[in-house]
Amino acid sequence: MINSDAFRHTRIPIAHGTEAMPAVGFGTLIPDLVDTRKSTKTALDVGFRHFDCAERYRNEEAVGDAFQEALTAGTVTREDLFVTTKIWNTNHRPARVRPAFDGSRRRLQVDYVDCYIVHTPYAFAPGDDPDPRDARGDVAYDAGVTLGDTWQALERLVDDGHCRSIGLSNVSLNPLREIVKGARIKPAAVQVESQPYLPEWELLDFCREHGIVLLAFAALGHAMTPNLLKDEVITTIANRLYMSPAQVALAWAVQRGTAFLTTSTDPQRIQSNYDISPLPDDAMQQIRDSITTNIRFNSVVQTGVPGFIPRVQS
Ligand SMILES: NC(=O)c1ccc[n+]([C@@H]2O[C@H](COP(=O)([O-])OP(=O)(O)OC[C@H]3O[C@@H](n4cnc5c(N)ncnc54)[C@H](OP(=O)(O)O)[C@@H]3O)[C@@H](O)[C@H]2O)c1
Repeated sequence: MINSDAFRHTRIPIAHGTEAMPAVGFGTLIPDLVDTRKSTKTALDVGFRHFDCAERYRNEEAVGDAFQEALTAGTVTREDLFVTTKIWNTNHRPARVRPAFDGSRRRLQVDYVDCYIVHTPYAFAPGDDPDPRDARGDVAYDAGVTLGDTWQALERLVDDGHCRSIGLSNVSLNPLREIVKGARIKPAAVQVESQPYLPEWELLDFCREHGIVLLAFAALGHAMTPNLLKDEVITTIANRLYMSPAQVALAWAVQRGTAFLTTSTDPQRIQSNYDISPLPDDAMQQIRDSITTNIRFNSVVQTGVPGFIPRVQS
């Protein structure tokens, strides 16, 4: 069995790009700016090298400040880091793509982005309001642009440098197939919710076949109910292997060939979410065979509206 150190450092080659993506990723969807900076710094200190950002999180500067602190201290180099960020729904029109990209680079204080991702396939009315609404209070979509138009604008970012690969998020298989079929530069990664209650095996098979990294967000179920970390299958394996339930869920993600994103503002959890080790084959099989709960926690895929409104903990 692969040793724990090598396991944590797993990198998934990117077929449509120039690098490899660290499978173990830290997400920066943290509402408070001070917490964002502190937690990103802690994540860097414990060993995370892959960071997921987004203009929509409105905290790219705080993430960039933490990067700068580590880069200035010499504890990491830019080449050690794998930085993804995402273009928001209101910037899908091709003319808005480059300014959005350059804005993220400026706020993150990076010269290049490792993977630039379309946050959702839904185009919203262009403008500065990230949540545009019509007179009735419904989401104002933009019928004047297709996902294909936006994708071509992302391809031009790769041509021009400063963007090493491009990807999609919150897409289902059919629109993904369409983009893969028509793209000059294929998606390097697809970022979707995936955890043991939503394994997305069919999507994973498609991604494998086409050299696309499946990048799983909400890898711990976003602390929502039903609580994945209290699932009997997961807790039984965790007790047997002297791991935390979170470590079991995260190891499962790496071992089946995906990259994952997890987020915490608690330094001990950040450390333990990084300190993962491989699971024995029978545990992998047990998770696949014995978990019957099927749930998607984030409804963003249905409307493009961010869906993380935490439910009450059980
Ligand atoms: N593309 C998209 O539309 C999209 C959508 C959502 C998220 N994302 C990305 O994915 C990242 C991860 O998503 P997520 O926040 O849903 O991840 P998650 O890791 O599933 O959930 C994070 C929650 O779990 C708790 N937690 C973390 N580690 C824990 C542990 N060891 N034991 C118990 N609880 C733990 C955290 O609370 P504490 O802080 O109290 O530890 C936090 O409330 C985001 O930051 C973002 O970068 C992308």
